[in-house]
Amino acid sequence: MSNVAVIGAQWGDEGKGKVVDLFALDADIVVRFQDGNNAGHTLVVKGEKTVLHLIPSGALHSKKICVIGNGVVVDPGILLEEISGLKKRGYLLKDSSLRLSEGAHLIMPYHKSIDQARERLRGKGRIGTTGRGIGPAYEDKVARTGIRFIDLLEEDVFREKLSYNIKEKNIYLKAILKEKPLNFKEIYDTYCGYRKKLKAYITDTAIFLNEKIKAGKKVLFEGAQGTLLDVDHGTYPFVTPSNTVISGVCSGTGMGPQNIHHIIGISKAYTTRVGSGPFPTELKGPEGEKLKQDGDEFGATTGRPRRCGWFDAVGARHAVRINGMTGIALTKLDVLTGFEKIKICTAYRFDGKTFHEFPSSLRVLEHAKPKWEEMEGWDTSLRRARKFSDLPINARRYVRRLEEILDTKMVLVSVGPGREQTIMLKKIF
Ligand code: GDP
Ligand code: IMO
Ligand code: MG
Repeated sequence: MSNVAVIGAQWGDEGKGKVVDLFALDADIVVRFQDGNNAGHTLVVKGEKTVLHLIPSGALHSKKICVIGNGVVVDPGILLEEISGLKKRGYLLKDSSLRLSEGAHLIMPYHKSIDQARERLRGKGRIGTTGRGIGPAYEDKVARTGIRFIDLLEEDVFREKLSYNIKEKNIYLKAILKEKPLNFKEIYDTYCGYRKKLKAYITDTAIFLNEKIKAGKKVLFEGAQGTLLDVDHGTYPFVTPSNTVISGVCSGTGMGPQNIHHIIGISKAYTTRVGSGPFPTELKGPEGEKLKQDGDEFGATTGRPRRCGWFDAVGARHAVRINGMTGIALTKLDVLTGFEKIKICTAYRFDGKTFHEFPSSLRVLEHAKPKWEEMEGWDTSLRRARKFSDLPINARRYVRRLEEILDTKMVLVSVGPGREQTIMLKKIF
């Protein structure tokens, strides 16, 4: 019996989609457990690129079941678009290949309006959210005014909840955010249409998953975002509103922790971040530009350029500890080709002090100066490497040094976006 969780070890976009697609070969079920379509997970199979925002990255394998757990906030319109796009390409043909939790919360039009209006009002102080309504949807969940799929199924409950929420949100939208009010009837009709189309997928996914695990099925949990975007353990307030770390698997699926056997952290061989917030190893000059161009660092959800910098071992060690990671999948090592020297940040310095552990203070993070360790680079392309010994000696040294600093073994090294551009070091399932 073996279930695996894949968790981002940085600020998201580490290559979770690629790794989940690869691991899914050996899994039976792939599960998303938090956040929503702020995620953009890229899969490249036989040269064809697919970006998934809500549906788990197991969707390109036939006979695998994809589950959207109760911890996810779901924009039903986006989900339907994603389902139909996949169906057109011959995936997810049977309704039973996708299960949607009846406990998952719906993203409503007012969540998107509020998210976007608040960002506009914040101006320079904005978080740089994806504008998909994720924050306001989680706020309503905690405020106990959210609408779940089970509520959508019960027509009178849905009408009552929506009617109350629209009244309250319209007051807020008009008076505080100076936005246009929303129309109850329009939203009600649209969402009743969604109910019809999504009904076949909605179920108690906690019961489904627990039964499958008992029957010996292998489950792969697909994290979205990354540890440094976690609402508790990230660079608050420049974070996403959910627990992106391992605890989210249990709360976001309804499963006990004993069911998770491996926790694999996904990390780029350098660091990127989209949106605002502190980024101690950010490179604003030509080296950052080279990482952006060679790594094609543009957001899979919003298309925004990603900020780039050297590997931040302080952040990565924090991620290893918070999640209890049992292994690391190192991605995009190929992007480091062509640098004469490669740097690793091993500690931060601020105000005469050295920080070996990730600080909670935003002020420290914003002003932290990295303490660098420098390594020799390499010139040859890594894209065709399939065994560790195919890598140039300096690339091997870099990987081994990261293992030492993080005190965690690599389970794979990725050298390109394609499924096959992978050096497997340890079997996971
Ligand atoms: P995710 O959100 O963690 O799934 O990552 P994204 O899909 O947003 O971003 C990762 C990007 O890097 C995608 O464009 C992937 O196709 C690409 N990618 C993944 N692994 C590698 C790799 O090893 N090398 C290169 N060059 N690209 C990679
Ligand atoms: P994947 O799963 C990178 C960032 C946003 C913003 C902050 C809050 O593809 O790794 P939100 O819309 O969540 O309220 O925005 O979080 N963010 C991501 N950054 N990858 C993601 O997902 C992200 N999802 C959210 O850019 O800074
Ligand atoms: Mg992404």
